[in-house]
Amino acid sequence: MPPAAEIRILNRPEDLFEAAAAEFVSLASQAVRNRGRFCVVLAGGNTPKSLYSLLAGPAGNSLPWDKICFFWGDERHVPPDHPDSNYRMAYDAMLSKLPARPENIFRIPAEQSDAKVAASAYEQTLNEFFHLQAGAFPRFDLILLGMGPDGHTASLFPGTSALHEKDRLAVANWVENFKTFRITLTLPVLNQSACVIFLVSGDDKASALREVFEEMGEPLPAKLVRPLDGRLLWLVDRAAAGALSTTAGIPRIL
Ligand code: 6PG
Repeated sequence: MPPAAEIRILNRPEDLFEAAAAEFVSLASQAVRNRGRFCVVLAGGNTPKSLYSLLAGPAGNSLPWDKICFFWGDERHVPPDHPDSNYRMAYDAMLSKLPARPENIFRIPAEQSDAKVAASAYEQTLNEFFHLQAGAFPRFDLILLGMGPDGHTASLFPGTSALHEKDRLAVANWVENFKTFRITLTLPVLNQSACVIFLVSGDDKASALREVFEEMGEPLPAKLVRPLDGRLLWLVDRAAAGALSTTAGIPRIL
């Protein structure tokens, strides 16, 4: 049985990002101390930008950035310099301001005209980096995730084929709503992680968050993320927690 999920409700978005930065620094410092490196999967979208900016500032000063290896949970089917690129968002907000080693930055090659080729190439990168045996999944030290108002996470959208992928590490996932492919890590990879931290901010996420935590129907994609042998932490702000029927048992960090 996976360990119970932790949920912390932070009063303001800035409190959420400070808490996330503290977790990142703690996990990264411990991983480098114990294993000589920290392998982290970055989330895309808008929410993590504030965390990445914090880490690019004084909050990240103590970190051995040259020993941190960066991956992405998903990518839009665009080149790395495109305004929608998750790689570009993280690069502009954080990586361009840090002494991270270029050889430790493993972006998804989403400039490939065929998204399936991009996904296969990323799988190859993971297989080689982690020296995976056939059928094995990489174990990241930390996977950062966001959640959309529809309960998607990474590029695992409700009703899409990638949700049912049990063997692949990364796939091209057709998202009908956007009429485009996305490249995404699969649930087996997310659930192999030593730690997953969701960052959820804003009242537009409140309905999906309630569904994840309180509904028993068909689970939303974000609810399917439960590390088999790892920590699951939801960092949410008060606006995103606004529809939870009871938060009595939930530690609030005010
Ligand atoms: C992406 C992300 C996606 C994101 C959610 C939330 O490529 O957009 O990987 O899963 O985390 O859509 O996005 P916001 O943080 O912008 O609300």
